[in-house]
Amino acid sequence: MGKYVIAGNWKMNKTPAEATALINEIKPLVADAKVDVIVGVPFIDLQAALDATKGTKIGVAAQNCHWEKSGAFTGEIAAEMLKEMGVGYVILGHSERRTYFGDTNESVQKRVRGALDAGLTVILCVGEYLEQREQGITGEIVATQVKVALGGVSAEELKRVIIAYEPVWAIGTGKTATAEQANEVCALIRDVVKGLYNEAAAKELTIQYGGSMNAKNAEELLAQSDVDGGLIGGAALKAPDFSTIVHAAKV
Ligand code: PGA
Repeated sequence: MGKYVIAGNWKMNKTPAEATALINEIKPLVADAKVDVIVGVPFIDLQAALDATKGTKIGVAAQNCHWEKSGAFTGEIAAEMLKEMGVGYVILGHSERRTYFGDTNESVQKRVRGALDAGLTVILCVGEYLEQREQGITGEIVATQVKVALGGVSAEELKRVIIAYEPVWAIGTGKTATAEQANEVCALIRDVVKGLYNEAAAKELTIQYGGSMNAKNAEELLAQSDVDGGLIGGAALKAPDFSTIVHAAKV
């Protein structure tokens, strides 16, 4: 995996047939990408995405996984299951999972553990709510999310972790963090990781920004010193926009 990573988070969008069609549209547009490209699709689209990306460098991500290998967890999917089918990545701790489906820092930590044990690469999402930013506690909130989620993760395992900073107030709202705001928190995350591990680990870490990143604002956001990529929601569902973002990263 390279340092710069642009990942699409499709959320609960696209049927398998639609996923195949969208990936087939994306493929030629990103064939010469200088950054790593990932599509994060609904569980039922994973096989279609794996088939459609075969022979390309596009990675495929799930949007959640459970920490146990198997068992009585109705509606959940084990990291091991994803690994066996050939999925390389999993998005964990997304704010929508935290807000609507009860994920906590502690459960995210367990999911990270399960994913790393299964051999997956994790895209770990962190970010503050608007009230928290207004209270001036963004730094504490994000630092705690990072520290708890990485509890027990070794320096070697950290090489399979990407952190996505996604201010919740910027997700799906059209309100992007300014490039400075994005960079400030990404730099803080890097500092937290430096404290937990060491300078080299912090330097190597891929830190993405996410939250209304689009074809227009991507270049400025991706030009920031501590922003190493993007986690893209809405704009990832349109092949030309997604490809513009992929090509906006100057590596
Ligand atoms: P958005 O979503 O780009 O639609 O704001 C980003 C995300 O939730 O990952």
